[in-house]
Amino acid sequence: MTVSVPVLPLRSGAAIPQIGLGTWPLDDDEAARAVDAAVGLGYRHFDTAENYRNEKGVGVGLRRSGIDRAEAFITTKFNKEWHSYDGVRRALDASMQRLGTEYVDLLLIHWPNPGLDQYVEAFRGMRAAQDEGLVRAVGVSNFKPAHLQKLADAGLVPEVNQVQLDPYRPRRDVREANASLGIVTEAWSPLGKGTSLLEEALLKDLAAKYGKTPAQIVLRWDVQSGIVTIPKSANPQRMAENLDIFGFELAPEEMSALGGLETGLPVTDSDSFGH
Ligand code: A2P
Repeated sequence: MTVSVPVLPLRSGAAIPQIGLGTWPLDDDEAARAVDAAVGLGYRHFDTAENYRNEKGVGVGLRRSGIDRAEAFITTKFNKEWHSYDGVRRALDASMQRLGTEYVDLLLIHWPNPGLDQYVEAFRGMRAAQDEGLVRAVGVSNFKPAHLQKLADAGLVPEVNQVQLDPYRPRRDVREANASLGIVTEAWSPLGKGTSLLEEALLKDLAAKYGKTPAQIVLRWDVQSGIVTIPKSANPQRMAENLDIFGFELAPEEMSALGGLETGLPVTDSDSFGH
């Protein structure tokens, strides 16, 4: 049985499935196998990037699965060397060629690279590609409120901001800035990779109460918070588990308790890191 995932509307008219498959750090072969398996389980949203070096594999997996292109939602992202009006078009053409597709559903600036200070120009290039029909929706990744404001001051508003976000690091400031501009928040590494998040007693208690796993509680918290989430798994059993979060609902006090898991744990700082 495949699961049907709710979608959130984007400003351009596109609709983004609230759960997608993260693909970093899978290589081409692993990504092809994972994407093919994921389609069979009900995934329709796939997240890749130039920098992951697996766009070819994602494309192979989609074709192997037999799914119609129109049913898939593909996100990709480009590196800083393409942060210019014309550069974006070259990056997009190369990504489309690797993916084997004639359009991308969501194109993101991977990191703002504020030292380079070219993301406003890059975003203008993305809007041009959108006007040409090569991209359905345009967005950013790892943008802090100040980066979003600089775009907004130029009259440019992304449709999505994909950031590192998990219950330890709920990114309240970014979510507030996104919401005030009408930007959908998307979470990368939603399961708090590299931390002991999934061992938290609160998650284990809620998991026991609902007959779910700690990972499912975290992903349910994302979805109920109005966030799009892209857990990565190469394991079909965990892929299925991560999609099976639509048959229960966390109570308001449980949502608040999960909000209380916030720690001072840092996220990757996009003022100093970026590629
Ligand atoms: P695997 O690929 O072996 O399933 P994130 O997307 O937050 O970065 O998390 C990715 C990591 O979490 C991967 O190591 C992945 O391993 C693991 N993972 C994915 N889904 C689950 C799950 N449901 N329970 C536990 N670990 C998971």
